[in-house]
Amino acid sequence: MTMHRLYILLVGLFISCAITAEAHNLSSPDGNLNLEFALDAQGQPVYRLLYKSKSVIEQSRLGLLFDETSMTDGFTIKDVSISEFDEVWNPVWGEYAQIRNHYNEMAVELVQSGTRQRTMTLRFRLFNDGLGFRYEFPEQRFLNYLTVKDELTEFNLTGDHTFYCIPGDYDTNEFAYTTAPISQIRKGMEINLRKKGYESKATSFSVQTPLQIKTTDGLYVNIHEAALVGYSAMLLNVDDVKFSLNAHLTPDKNGKKGFVQLPFATPWRTVIVSDDARDILASQLILNLNEPCAYDDVSWIKPMKFMGVWWEMFIGTGKTWAYSDKYNAKPGVTDYKALPPNGHHPANTAHVKEYIDFASENGIDAVLVEGWNEGWEDWGSYHKDRQFLFNKPYPDFDVEALQAYAASKGVKIIMHHETAANASDYELQMDDAFSYMNEHGYSAVKTGYVGYVIPRSEYHSSQWMNNHYIEVARRAARYHIMIDSHEAVRPTGLCRTYPNWMAQESARGGEFESMGGNDPDHTAILPFTRLKGGPMDYTPGILQTQLSYYNGEKNDQFVHTTLAKQLALYLTMPSPIQMAADLPENYRRFNDAFQFIREVPVDWSDSKYLEAEPGDYITVARKDKNSDRWYVGAITDENERTAIIKFDFLPAGKKYEATIYEDAKDAHYQTNPMSYNIRKIKVTSKTVLKQRLASSGGAAISIREL
Ligand code: NOJ
Ligand code: CA
Repeated sequence: MTMHRLYILLVGLFISCAITAEAHNLSSPDGNLNLEFALDAQGQPVYRLLYKSKSVIEQSRLGLLFDETSMTDGFTIKDVSISEFDEVWNPVWGEYAQIRNHYNEMAVELVQSGTRQRTMTLRFRLFNDGLGFRYEFPEQRFLNYLTVKDELTEFNLTGDHTFYCIPGDYDTNEFAYTTAPISQIRKGMEINLRKKGYESKATSFSVQTPLQIKTTDGLYVNIHEAALVGYSAMLLNVDDVKFSLNAHLTPDKNGKKGFVQLPFATPWRTVIVSDDARDILASQLILNLNEPCAYDDVSWIKPMKFMGVWWEMFIGTGKTWAYSDKYNAKPGVTDYKALPPNGHHPANTAHVKEYIDFASENGIDAVLVEGWNEGWEDWGSYHKDRQFLFNKPYPDFDVEALQAYAASKGVKIIMHHETAANASDYELQMDDAFSYMNEHGYSAVKTGYVGYVIPRSEYHSSQWMNNHYIEVARRAARYHIMIDSHEAVRPTGLCRTYPNWMAQESARGGEFESMGGNDPDHTAILPFTRLKGGPMDYTPGILQTQLSYYNGEKNDQFVHTTLAKQLALYLTMPSPIQMAADLPENYRRFNDAFQFIREVPVDWSDSKYLEAEPGDYITVARKDKNSDRWYVGAITDENERTAIIKFDFLPAGKKYEATIYEDAKDAHYQTNPMSYNIRKIKVTSKTVLKQRLASSGGAAISIREL
């Protein structure tokens, strides 16, 4: 027995609320969080988590089942070691220039009874803002190759808390959120699934992580995972009677949940906790639990703002990714030059030049072009082993001419690789595709995984695919290429290790405003859920919010925010690769409002969450990484409200001018969304501004020193 163990044993004995008399205890550096670990009478590992002496997670089981053996019970404790870690690291980009990684750690080495003496270590890290723990399997004589059957990890909750959740699924996260007590979420999620016309693949009643919870006694709890490497993504089974959750690992279509070889460690299971919702948003726990940057040179990784030949395919005017309406053309086989062009293909040289001109005139770094390459004619068939080629432009897209033109205007073109979820074919083409990008001056690519995965045994969140996404990021890094992935597994902070994996979609993005819409509270939930894993390519900045503008009665779709809220999203949905998603013609029409998008940074040295409540509102101030300027964004859900903005984040004694882009008095996201107003006021660190926000409205503020 180590001295440490003796010490905690003694402490454990005297804590009356401990799960058993022999609990091993760990505290967070500030003492607010307490973890108890013990073995029960069957030698099963159990834990409990307390915040300011209140139970957050009641006694819950831990353990892993493999096809070959079960690591769930019959354990004794071989050793317990406690340590402290405290460092400050500098992310390549993000919300903060510096991040403190400070935790107390307890590693519990367990041995299973019997002649084989199998061992497993449970490593707990307790930060001021939450808990991370994982299972580790050191190299050992009687365990080597294992097939993951199930993970027992439980999170037993203390009551009928409110969940902000989407249905558990193996392929997609693109759902509307349900906000309801646990006992009611089943109904709410069914309605949302029906709206999407989708049946979840998950084989039991489950929710997706990151899961945001508000407890009946006012605590904010967020459950997710960090560093999803070599393992399948975790959903959470819900027991809506006992109010308990347990791990539900994504299987492949053969029912296998993962194949591992020792030594190996699972991803971290994370529980972020606070009595102040702002702390959940500010928490860097998930990044802290990821490995440091894997690259020596990161000078080529450059945050950027971009426009795109993109939204015009969503607004119902008949524009297509495809060059021809000739169905069943085959990339690499068909002679596309001989096909009749359909005449509504915007990814053509002349049109892309217009975007490049606009981007160049307005200080936008890059232009994404979708539909530039062979294969879109029968996109969505999901039957082809080769849907797309990534080095074969359509006849009307002149790669060389555009390369020269973009360079002359100081604008980058962003490549698009829609893989149609054919990941194995993408792996075959990847080196050619990245070389092609290098040859033609591209430094970033938006990848996509729409449809059913090939290999056909896999889901988007199963182990094989999770390995694939990481391989793409690593391979891209060799070519100095940045990635923005759509439809990949939801992120788990891996952008710390692979910072060229700049952003992901992996949630219901802005595009859905053209397909049924996003609820007014959607973007007041995403920062508490999806964004805890990393930045989202949400595609904000749609200023022309009514799609009937384009073709009258035919299109009743509309963006469920005011125009001003679209601007505020640049602050509340931060991403180092951030889109200005609307059409140039609309930005010309709303030129004064577009000024905010022109100047808003995409990389920050500091961030202060001023107000927050999941599903209701968020107000945040951020400081530009490359200047002393501050920006503020405030959003609300369907309820109009008055944001109270305290400017005490500004240095004292200086005078500033704040330009406020706000909802006009008569603005409302349904009846008058594009009614906005721009005004300037003088502010100092003592100013407290009462800023009115309309129904699903917002305010965006740019601040400069006088
Ligand atoms: C879905 C993506 O989310 C969207 O942004 C893209 O335009 C289409 N797939 C086509 O790849
Ligand atoms: Ca998508």
